Amino acid sequence: MKKLMLVAASVVMAAGMVGVAHAGDPEAGQAKYATCIGCHGPTGQGQAIFPKVAGKDFDYLVEVMTKYRAGETVGPNSMMMMPHAMNLSDEDIADLAAYMAAME
Ligand code: HEC
Repeated sequence: MKKLMLVAASVVMAAGMVGVAHAGDPEAGQAKYATCIGCHGPTGQGQAIFPKVAGKDFDYLVEVMTKYRAGETVGPNSMMMMPHAMNLSDEDIADLAAYMAAME
């Protein structure tokens, strides 16, 4: 929990510096992550073709989620991921990215 707070604080600071509108709330992200567990796992470790998402860089996570939402190919299995990003708002993506970045 302490680590989560630290990450949240640093995300807010980083976002403040570059002027990003949505800094991301990891606690809100945790609730939104419920639909992702089936593939990426409860701790974000991934399995088989489903990549690990835990502990990755916040900006990277926002970037790839935004690409999936736009229907852009990222890796060989993007078609499986796109439907799960399509209905996300910028805020959802930021919250989810903050949560995934804070996972071990
Ligand atoms: C049906 C299984 C499935 C579900 C559900 C799913 N994903 Fe994925 N996800 C994938 C696959 C497969 C990939 C790899 C796609 C590729 O090759 O580009 C991926 C890739 C990703 C990546 C990129 C990882 C990297 O290192 O590049 C992120 C971030 C991600 N998913 C987040 C999420 C989030 C957040 C949710 C819930 C809103 C979610 N996924 C739901 C299957 C899924």
